[in-house]
Amino acid sequence: MADIAVVTGANSGIGLATALRLAGDGYEVFAGTRGEAGIEAIEQAATAAGADGVHAVQLDVTDDASVEAAFGRVLAAGPVAVLVNNAGISGAGTVERTPIAEFQANFDTNVLGTIRCIQHVLPGMRDAGGGRIVNISSATAVLSQPLLGAYGLTKHAVEGLSESLQAEVAPFGVRVIVVRPGTILTPIWGKAGLLDPDPDYAAAQDILMAVVTHNLSRSGVPPEAVAEVIAAAIADDDPAFRHDVGDIDVVHRAHANLDGGDGLYDLHALEGDDFRQRYAEVTGIDYWG
Ligand code: NAI
Repeated sequence: MADIAVVTGANSGIGLATALRLAGDGYEVFAGTRGEAGIEAIEQAATAAGADGVHAVQLDVTDDASVEAAFGRVLAAGPVAVLVNNAGISGAGTVERTPIAEFQANFDTNVLGTIRCIQHVLPGMRDAGGGRIVNISSATAVLSQPLLGAYGLTKHAVEGLSESLQAEVAPFGVRVIVVRPGTILTPIWGKAGLLDPDPDYAAAQDILMAVVTHNLSRSGVPPEAVAEVIAAAIADDDPAFRHDVGDIDVVHRAHANLDGGDGLYDLHALEGDDFRQRYAEVTGIDYWG
């Protein structure tokens, strides 16, 4: 029997590309999705790609019963060799105005959803003396931009969680792999609008829209690029802990030019051309040019 891989949020974007890629690499892939439409989407994509060994499975990472049932089915087929925690939601809004329920929803999906799945695979991985847990983080975990509080905090949490986890499971031969995508051309961008446009924060909104519009049209890469990085990392006998994908180099550069992020606050106090000039210096890109 081929090694088993589980990919969450696999009906679109990075998750779907990863499920198809891992099936192509010979894994028996359980591709998680919340509903019937997702199951159909996965099955159609697998058929179109000629990918054998993709099993669409109902798996809502925010629902304990759903996670339990899904891993019951998966583990009946065998132990999990690879878990890719990919399911995620996002949304942009100010800390001041974003409803607490939105913070909770982001945290429940992006962080607790990851933990729920990890708890189901770890006993088997420890018994097997190995396994790979891939957690999808984000460039936002390097530098949290304005308006990305609810989403950004979840990706910082995923990184902290992954560090603790790797230290815990290292003695059992289990490896944790953190993947940090930059701008990836997936449906998430269409789902994640401004939650509550607010005239008091017009400047921050304008910046976010300019950066996102620029990145989507000029530097975004397809989800297959992330799948490629994941496939290579899990195949590596001694994988690195963190893996960057896409245009995240801009974020690292800005982080360095802003004294590790501290200078972000001064930068955002500037206005008009002063801001634009400094922003271009920091990032190396004139987003309004
Ligand atoms: P996407 O929207 O195509 O994929 C997200 C998937 O998660 C969807 O299939 C969605 O149905 C699923 N999902 C949402 N809530 C779920 C739940 N409760 N249970 C199970 N599945 C659920 O977007 P994309 O871009 O492929 O996102 C995948 C991951 O990549 C996310 O964790 C996202 O934060 C991360 N990411 C994406 C970047 C991008 O530029 N697209 C950049 C950095 C990170």
